[in-house]
Amino acid sequence: MERSKLKSLLAELTLDEKIGQLVQLSGEFYNASDISLGPQRKLGITQRTVDLSGSVLNVVGAENIRAVQKDHLQKSKHAIPLLFMADIVYGYRTIYPIPIGMGSSWNPELIQKAYKSTAEEAYAGGVHVTFAPMVDLVRDPRWGRTLESTGEDPYLNSQFAKAMVNGFQFGLNEGKGIASCVKHFAAYGAAEAGREYNSADMSLVNLYQNYLPAYKAAVKAGAKMVMTSLSTLNGVPSTADRWLIQDVLRKQWGFEGVVISDYASVFELIQHGFAKDAVDAAGKALQAGVDIDMKSPCYAQGLQPLLEDGKLSIDKIDDAVWRVLTLKNNLGLFENPYRGASSELEKTTILTESKRKVARQVSRESLVLLKNDNDILPLNIKDNKSVALIGPYSSEKELLGLWAVHGDRQATVTFEDGIREYLGEKLNVAKGTDIIRDVAFFDQSGMIPGLAKKVISSDEIESDNFKSALATANEADIIIFTCGEHTMQSGEAGSRTKLRLPENQMRLFNALVQTNKPIITVVVSGRPLILSEVAEKSQALIQAWFPGTEGGHALADIIFGKTNPSGRLSMSMPFNEGQLPMSYNYLSTGRPERTSQHVGRFVSRYIDAPTKPLYSFGYGLSYGKVRYHDLQCVNNIQKSGFLEVSIKIDNVGKYDRDEVVQVYIHDIEASIVQPIRRLIDFKKVHIRTGESRAVNFLIDKNKLGFYDQQGNFRVEPGRFKLFVGKSSEDTLEENFVL
Ligand code: GLC
Repeated sequence: MERSKLKSLLAELTLDEKIGQLVQLSGEFYNASDISLGPQRKLGITQRTVDLSGSVLNVVGAENIRAVQKDHLQKSKHAIPLLFMADIVYGYRTIYPIPIGMGSSWNPELIQKAYKSTAEEAYAGGVHVTFAPMVDLVRDPRWGRTLESTGEDPYLNSQFAKAMVNGFQFGLNEGKGIASCVKHFAAYGAAEAGREYNSADMSLVNLYQNYLPAYKAAVKAGAKMVMTSLSTLNGVPSTADRWLIQDVLRKQWGFEGVVISDYASVFELIQHGFAKDAVDAAGKALQAGVDIDMKSPCYAQGLQPLLEDGKLSIDKIDDAVWRVLTLKNNLGLFENPYRGASSELEKTTILTESKRKVARQVSRESLVLLKNDNDILPLNIKDNKSVALIGPYSSEKELLGLWAVHGDRQATVTFEDGIREYLGEKLNVAKGTDIIRDVAFFDQSGMIPGLAKKVISSDEIESDNFKSALATANEADIIIFTCGEHTMQSGEAGSRTKLRLPENQMRLFNALVQTNKPIITVVVSGRPLILSEVAEKSQALIQAWFPGTEGGHALADIIFGKTNPSGRLSMSMPFNEGQLPMSYNYLSTGRPERTSQHVGRFVSRYIDAPTKPLYSFGYGLSYGKVRYHDLQCVNNIQKSGFLEVSIKIDNVGKYDRDEVVQVYIHDIEASIVQPIRRLIDFKKVHIRTGESRAVNFLIDKNKLGFYDQQGNFRVEPGRFKLFVGKSSEDTLEENFVL
């Protein structure tokens, strides 16, 4: 529709029609046969509000959406179509590894392809906007939503944020793709003590340097929407934070799109102690710049009284409605309210072989090989060794993770499926034990139906499973032990204080250790767990995350060497929970453990645990061996504004590999103390066995800059260290001066 016509439409709307556009309700308000008995009783939403509402969350599927849209348009005097939004965070029906796994791929280009593939599925399913990517930086795996983040580094997270937005919105101007809503603005991942929904509190230096860059990258990549966080930042709920939305997002970053609250977060301003009641909450959120009130009664009940009491100007409402109508118009919904929703298109687009192929590759590159003693991997099927696959994740289809809300679990390739394609009948499988046996956990966790099975075997069955697993192990030459956390122990509202395997799994693991057979341990989890004991007693250790629909194929491809593992951790794996929160880019302190002039205890360390993580950011193994040498740094910054960095890599192993070459700096003295290492660039390069090649980087001097207490960016002259290598700890070093 022409802009002028859209302006006329806005002018024609009555107040309640305008307010309706700012209200988002969930599916039951549109599908429930008797709306008066539905959830509206909890929200006090009138039928009129439902009929005038502007958007819906988590209604998906072509037929479903076409029916709801058709019914809605018939009630809408101005035929304003609904916006359909859904949580399509790391896949729609074909599910990719969880983002903390995709972060380990260090391959934004591949992830962009995956998100384009996801958008094609969701487009056919009628979805207009996805509540993704979630780009919250996280340094504390006690937080359940670590699952959705690409990790602890602002630069790496920013590359993925850009790639995900570009993937979702590929072809958007030509009527394809789906609009991206980046979340949760801002710093939700800094929840104190890793406790879900807890407050975040930090300096502006930390906020600008670490927590904001990925949101900014998503906005600069053209994300059409931003979702505010449920939490407070420095004492102000993000959903009513004028400074964050008006000054940072709109003025500093130039964002002109729609801002939506998180689920009921407008109403929760009351619980935060920031608003007196629903009306006050509505005023504070709208004045701060939140355009759409997701699943709360505040805007529906509060905006009109505020207007009538002169506490709110109609301009504020008009501006918000204009942004919502503009998004609908830019998606072509006035011309075609059904957009891509097509059952025919679903059949030819969803879970196709080509979609699975992309998912398999992403999953392969997300797995991280953490240990491989005596090069026990890859297994050679010609060795005729018998393999026992033992553990609760061996034949489990729930490899998708908590936010795969629209995923097809039946489509999952299990670890057994994948490995059996290589070994056939030579493979013996035994579950051994349940994932967890904690009844209280299931009762309190509020099982989400269809998302994960609540399985607690009887003691008798558990005992039989245990015995059968040991018998199977004793007949085998090699054991592949699958373990990890239950999907419901991770994701939103999945904060944990103990990050080790449950007692029943450790009991099985230690019994397997007693067989003295080599054990290849595969860990399924939505976050880094505490694997110290398991790592010590396993010959090989693979972090599988929730590896997605093609997880079984990808694991088998790695184990049998069809693929050389290339995953590198995008988040530190702690030695124990007491070290948390932690990240590789910490400050030196005045008494650094290894270089302080003080001796003994008076240095920055723990007296009861190592300072370092068990496995560091950027770490991961591949098959074979490479040698890094001849790091060169040509400093042309004065003339060209760039550093020219080059390093030579020799593949001296017998396998081709994809190598993640990582570039870090340390600003040795600065007006704001800088981390001992900070990632500023990386390249994932393919190196054939026997090949030697140079890998070059052109480092813009702005990559050397940092933010000060006022949030101002500065590049300061002085001495720098440059580190280039295979992880945040294993690098060659050079010095240069700016
Ligand atoms: C949830 C989450 C958010 C999600 C929204 C809609 O509470 O915080 O990430 O997009 O509600 O489901």
